[in-house]
Amino acid sequence: MTKKEKEKRQLKYNAPKGIHDILPPDIYLWQKIEKISKNLFEKYGYQEIRTPIIEHTDIFIRSIGEETDIVEKEMYTFLDRAGRSLTLRPEGTASVVRSFVEHNLNTLPTPQKFYYVGPMFRYERPQKGRFRQFYQIGVEAFGEKGPLIDAEVIAMLVNFLNLIGCENVNIELNSIGCETCRPLFKKELINFFSNKLSNLCTDCQRRHKTNPLRILDCKVDGCIENRQGAPMISRYLCENCTVHFEELKNLLNNLNIPYTLNPELVRGLDYYTKTTFEATSNQLGAQKAVAAGGRYDKLVEEFGGPPTSAIGFAIGLERIITLTKEKLTIQYPDPLFFIATIGKEAEMKGLILAENLRQKGYYVEIHYGNASLKSQLRKADRINAKVVLIIGDEELKSGKIKWKNLYTKEQGDVDINAVVSIVS
Ligand code: HAM
Repeated sequence: MTKKEKEKRQLKYNAPKGIHDILPPDIYLWQKIEKISKNLFEKYGYQEIRTPIIEHTDIFIRSIGEETDIVEKEMYTFLDRAGRSLTLRPEGTASVVRSFVEHNLNTLPTPQKFYYVGPMFRYERPQKGRFRQFYQIGVEAFGEKGPLIDAEVIAMLVNFLNLIGCENVNIELNSIGCETCRPLFKKELINFFSNKLSNLCTDCQRRHKTNPLRILDCKVDGCIENRQGAPMISRYLCENCTVHFEELKNLLNNLNIPYTLNPELVRGLDYYTKTTFEATSNQLGAQKAVAAGGRYDKLVEEFGGPPTSAIGFAIGLERIITLTKEKLTIQYPDPLFFIATIGKEAEMKGLILAENLRQKGYYVEIHYGNASLKSQLRKADRINAKVVLIIGDEELKSGKIKWKNLYTKEQGDVDINAVVSIVS
């Protein structure tokens, strides 16, 4: 073997950093959680929406905001062959809003409610609970401006977390105001940080002028330290935002949904107005948010649609899986029948029998290629098959095949056309 051939043989490919495979049997846990969410969300009137994984880059810049960490540092952006800038979606809301406006979904009865499941991409520093490709289950509801739907959305999230056995999750709640109350708050923030500028990171020094709210969710240590004592939006809420927030709290109290007020919860995306919330767990280390969301009453307009209030959240699937892995029992399918064959003709009969049984709805595995009966039976055992059907020369002649139930150890002969009678 030449050196080059040797090197080629040793070449080992790994998935890119921060990006993972989801393999069986884990995948059954993922499917179970996705199924529970789908069943629950549909009870609340949400319908599935599938938007593309790549979008025009501008969609994310306009919605998430130019000054955010996501847009500044974390997007997977590339030019397509025609030189257009495209981006792997870092989140789902922007795409759903784009789709809502593009297809004039505002003309349908309100509220329009959607859910989605899929991968998102952020070029973050990978660590426990933080990946570069991660999965979200998200919901977005359009067309309701009152707090009733805020309460319903939060109740739905709490119900979901309860259903999958996510315990000790806290709902943190805040209101970050609207375009009426923000200007005064921004002014206060600018004043507060103006004599601390040299302690802030260079991004935040720039944000101080352009988007001071973003300093409040910067992840750099110096910025975190220097925002101690910063003004809080809750003190600057206008009448409309105050009433909305008070009503929401009252509704949540009446629904017996516990929550904690967190006046520092500003979220890392620019599109939010009024209500913001996060579901956090203290069992996850630094990346403690299992889900997060809020209202975004201006985004549809920002995308060229009519004024339309909206609210939603997204759940981080990897983090949910970490919390529920031990608790959720998963039942993945085992073969009901394994067909062991000896000889070419038996192999063909086995293949036909397997097809017939599968058409009747049974899960059937067969043996491929030559092997002793002993090793075929060993394989049946390893894959946890319930019943082994054995076809050899004698069985072909008599039309009766041998069967053995590997669970109960019962065995016997059965007509090849009546195999189902063994299990029914
Ligand atoms: P987000 O807070 O950026 O909000 O993400 C929502 C959730 O996704 C987080 O709470 C976390 O569980 C998960 N997540 C985010 N980044 C990562 C990562 N790098 N690795 C693993 N999990 C992660 C949004 O994405 C908004 N679109 C939510 C929303 C929907 N707001 C309104 N509608």
